[in-house]
This record gives sequence, C-alpha cells and structure tokens, in this order.
Amino acid sequence: MFILGIESSCDETAIALIERGKRNRVIAEIIKSQIPLHAKFGGVVPEIASRSHYEAIDQLLVALIQESGMDLTKVDLIAATQGPGLIGSLLIGFMFAKTLAYTFNKPLIPVNHIDAHLDAVGIEADPVTFPALGLVVSGGHTSLYFMKNPYERYVLAKTRDDAVGEVMDKVAKYFELGYPGGPILDQLTGPNKSNQFTFSTPKMSDGSMDFSFSGYKTAVLRQAQKFGIDKGHTDFPLFITSLSHALVDYIIAQIEYFNQKYSPSSIIISGGVSRNTLLRIKSNSFFSVRGRTVRFPKPQYCTDNAAMVAWRAYDVFCENPKGTYKNFRLTPFSRALPNSSPRYR
Ligand code: KG4
Ligand code: ZN
Repeated sequence: MFILGIESSCDETAIALIERGKRNRVIAEIIKSQIPLHAKFGGVVPEIASRSHYEAIDQLLVALIQESGMDLTKVDLIAATQGPGLIGSLLIGFMFAKTLAYTFNKPLIPVNHIDAHLDAVGIEADPVTFPALGLVVSGGHTSLYFMKNPYERYVLAKTRDDAVGEVMDKVAKYFELGYPGGPILDQLTGPNKSNQFTFSTPKMSDGSMDFSFSGYKTAVLRQAQKFGIDKGHTDFPLFITSLSHALVDYIIAQIEYFNQKYSPSSIIISGGVSRNTLLRIKSNSFFSVRGRTVRFPKPQYCTDNAAMVAWRAYDVFCENPKGTYKNFRLTPFSRALPNSSPRYR
C-alpha cells in the first residue's frame, strides 16, 4: 500500500511517500525547514509559518513526484496532520491533502501529530512491543502515554506549562546562542555536571505526576545573575551541562515512576528533543540495567517530518479499513487508566 503523508503543523513543510504492508519503507521525502525564517525572532512566528507553508507546499509535491517517479493515481491513501499545531499552518497542509484526496478520489486519513511522533520509532525499524510507555518531548509537547497497543493510548502526564524543547529554545535565546536552542545546548553539553550550578527538581503541590518546566527558566536567570554567567564565561559550557543533566534526570525520573507502576515491554522517547545526546545516553543506561529497552526514532524522524504522518496513517487505516474518514475529529487521549476505562475510540 502506498501512502502520501503531509506535515505542516508548525515550522516544517514536509511531504513523504511510503510503502506499508508487504514492504515497509520510505520511498521519498522532502522537508522544507523554516528555521532560517524564524531564527531572528528566536521562536516560531505563526503568520510567517503559514505563509511559508502556503508558498512551498505545491512545489514540494511536484519535487516529490519527480524524485519518486510516482503517479498520484497509484497512491492508496492520503494522510495529513490534523492537529495539534498552529491553526494557520495546519490548514494549509490539511486543505491541500483534502483537495488531493477529492481530486484523485482517495481516502483521506487525518493524523494526530502526537500519534505520528510516537509511531516514528517504527519507521524502517523493528515494530514496537506493547504495552509501552511513550514520551513525546518537543518544542510544543512534553507528554507521557501508556500505550496498550498501536491504537489505545492513555495520558499519564503532561506539562502544565512549558515543553522541555521550549525551555531549551528560550535559554538559548536568553544567552543569544541562536535558534533552535535544543541542538545548540546539546553541542555545549559535556558528560560531567558541576555541583556549583543547581537546578531543583519540580514537585507538584497537588501530588500529580504532571511535568512542569517553567521553574527551570527562572532558575537559569537567577543562577546566571548570581554567578555572572554569560556565553563568554569560561564556566558557560559547565553551566549548560548542569542544566541539561537536570532536565534529563527529571525526565528519566518521571518515566521511571510509571515504569515501576506499569512494567511496560518497552519505552519510547520521541519528538525533537529525543535527538538529544545526553537524553539518549542517560536513558539507555538507566533503563537497560532495569531490563527495559528504550526506543528512539532515527534522528531524522525525531523532529517534524511527513514520513511519520504517513506511517501513522497506515495504523489508523488498519484499525478501521472501512472507516469513513469524513469525520475529521481529533482523537482525544483518555486521562483514565487502562483497566478502568473503555476504549477511547
Ligand atoms: O518535534 P519538533 O520538530 O517540533 C515540535 O513538534 O515541537 O521539535 C522541535 C524541538 C525544538 O524545541 C528543538 O530545540 C528541539 O526539538 N531539538 C532538540 C534537539 N534537536 C531539536 N533538543 C535537544 N537536543 C537536540 N539535539
Ligand atoms: Zn512535532
């Protein structure tokens, strides 16, 4: 089965063609990143993002057709990110996909962006073993799910304020390091933190296991002022290293809480921040000694891409091949725990 996927939820316009079923492979993919457009603002500007999607999307399709040699009449499904994301950006990709589906008389599969990030670990890789814990860490999300199977997913914890990628982007902006901040902080981070710079672990006053990252931003400002740290300071890499360790240790502790509770077969970490070197090294070593495998997507499928959208669409289609995809409602994630709640769709 051939699937065309479209992603436009934030600042990447992406189109991919994949094959699923007998063969599982990415045939062709094109991503136009808008990073240069947003870099001078230190973050994504929604109006610029949607205009850029609008200008790029048809050209990307033409380029994909040329690269793959694929005739659109041979495509079986058309998939597009329906949400969550910036509404102007989503509209461009989703309406483009709708038009293609209508023109070529193909089923249109609306895809949840978070579902797609979680499915990205399976792209041209071994299938995930369930039940699994799935963490999505990106510029817009820090959410942990219990995944009973490819279709049933339950929210265990979400961030109450910033996403972890957002914190990294804002810290980089504060120190005028560039955008996006995550990869820059990643480069600056070394193996050993310093006890001089301390970032305390957030605790929810209501006892919830939700995430909270906004305190890290305040702590960065306070510590930078206290120790006179700027990007030219000799201790600057040590400062960033200490912050990175604090963020990673916090994330691992949160996963471990639910790992103990649910004993999953595997742990998935996906989303843009899952490219992070320290997160990969520390979570692999922490969970391997506890007998758990941590699965990350290939680096190119951690950040936003269209292959993951198409990959996810196959699962959506397999769950309900006769489904009428006219009912374009987003899949809500159930907050209730698996044994006490009915299927959420
Ligand atoms: O998944 P993504 O492309 O977009 C969202 O859905 O948000 O993630 C983008 C985020 C940005 O915050 C970026 O700084 C972060 O992923 N990121 C990283 C790394 N590469 C990208 N964070 C830490 N380390 C990296 N190597
Ligand atoms: Zn994303």
